[in-house]
Amino acid sequence: MLVTEAEAERHQLYRSCKWRSQRATTSALLGLVLLVFSGAMVLKFTSWSRHGALNNNSSDPILVDLTLVKNATEIGAVCLDGSPPGYHFLKGFDSGTDNWLIYLEGGGWCHDVESCNARKYTNLGSSNRMESQVPFTGILSNLPSNNPDFSNWNIVVIRYCDGASFSGDVEETNQNGTILYFRGQRIWKAVMEELFLKGLATANKALLTGCSAGGLATYIHCDDFKALLPNAETVKCMADGGFFLDVKDISGKSYIHDFYSDVVHLQDVGKRFPNCISQMDATKCFFPEEIIKGISTPVFVLNSAYDSVQVQSMLVPSSSDPSNSWADCKLDIKKCNSTQMKVLEGFRATLLDNINDVKKKKDWGIFIDSCYVHCQSWRNILWHGPNYQRINNKTMAESVGDWYFDRREVKEIDCSYPCNPTCVNDGS
Ligand SMILES: *[C@@H]1O[C@H](CO)[C@@H](O)[C@H](O)[C@H]1NC(C)=O
Ligand SMILES: *[C@@H]1O[C@H](CO)[C@@H](O)[C@H](O)[C@H]1NC(C)=O
Ligand SMILES: *[C@@H]1O[C@H](CO)[C@@H](O)[C@H](O)[C@H]1NC(C)=O
Ligand SMILES: *[C@@H]1O[C@H](CO)[C@@H](O)[C@H](O)[C@H]1NC(C)=O
Ligand SMILES: *[C@@H]1O[C@H](CO)[C@@H](O)[C@H](O)[C@H]1NC(C)=O
Repeated sequence: MLVTEAEAERHQLYRSCKWRSQRATTSALLGLVLLVFSGAMVLKFTSWSRHGALNNNSSDPILVDLTLVKNATEIGAVCLDGSPPGYHFLKGFDSGTDNWLIYLEGGGWCHDVESCNARKYTNLGSSNRMESQVPFTGILSNLPSNNPDFSNWNIVVIRYCDGASFSGDVEETNQNGTILYFRGQRIWKAVMEELFLKGLATANKALLTGCSAGGLATYIHCDDFKALLPNAETVKCMADGGFFLDVKDISGKSYIHDFYSDVVHLQDVGKRFPNCISQMDATKCFFPEEIIKGISTPVFVLNSAYDSVQVQSMLVPSSSDPSNSWADCKLDIKKCNSTQMKVLEGFRATLLDNINDVKKKKDWGIFIDSCYVHCQSWRNILWHGPNYQRINNKTMAESVGDWYFDRREVKEIDCSYPCNPTCVNDGS
């Protein structure tokens, strides 16, 4: 049932994606991506690549080559299909030479043999399918006009191909007759080791970040990252759109909890959380509300209060709305009626409740906008556009930069929808 559900969600999300490209559509038609979430990041990469290739314009984003990790296969640090993992590396310069921004790509999760097997034939499960170049925009941009504080840093995008937020680790590869490698944890380690040789080992400042499943991975790996860099002056983490809530769906079912339970058990993710699993079920340990309790490194929580992907796929999955009465509201928040808005307000209240303790931590940061979107930091106009996604007239780039460099304490929580006129509410 979950698989059928997942497929329905995927179609819904593909349709809603503004940047849907021919290539992504073809992939979808081939039935390649059986995810609960669309690989939103990937769709955008694909289409932005095309955009970049079509325009020979100096303000177009830089395209950065894919590098496959050397020696990865020998230690079994491989994608779902056994291919080596990959990353895109843009070298830092000037005052950014010794500073590193590491971005973990997102793209949902697979939760059973069937969905992970399907994922093997996509760019989220195999480096054989990954784009050879991706554009770096928003927080990844090398242009100060788009990215005031990090544009001259070493910037690395680590591709996501393990299906469990870089956190699974299963030795056995024969899953009931299907060959699948669940090795996210080893991928994380192998990529870090290779980046060490490229200069990460002597980093002065570092920021671990990522969106969606990569945002969740950012919470999960934040303290690991800090521990790798004991001599760095500043190490912090910023998770974008990664605060997934353990909410019941509108029909009262624990849809996302059950889905995460499958992921956690399939890929033996519980091992990642030795302290947490001694106190509660491993599935609960996979939710940011629990993960953040154990993080000692400063973290910035960047999230929409009405995260569109969470609303579309977790709060109102198709199974919870058989008559499809939420279809318009899910696509366009303007079309939600007052009953639906009340449900969304409840979702926002749960998020704010979950980050209550974060508000009290002086060195942590918060930017919770009330715009109906999902990943925000990698998009130029949302990250640092002239007129968009501001809270108290600050862009995300300014807020995250102010927090990272200790220029001020940043705890920006937007008023509730629709009060913020700077929102781009495109549901992407
Ligand atoms: C270059 O791109 C920018 C932003 O996309 C656009 O405003 C500008 O008109 C473009 N210039 C040329 C020469 O195409
Ligand atoms: C393999 O099959 C058994 C029996 O049908 C089932 O209990 C188990 O969950 C399956 N394992 C995986 C990884 O799907
Ligand atoms: C890969 O292995 C070779 C031989 O063991 C070693 O010399 C090289 O440094 C390794 N490369 C990386 C990136 O770990
Ligand atoms: C809002 O829409 C839902 C679903 O169609 C419906 O059940 C509810 O009665 C509507 N509420 C109002 C106030 O129109
Ligand atoms: C908002 O900030 C911009 C600079 O980013 C500034 O030009 C503008 O005057 C500010 N607006 C208000 C209302 O403070």
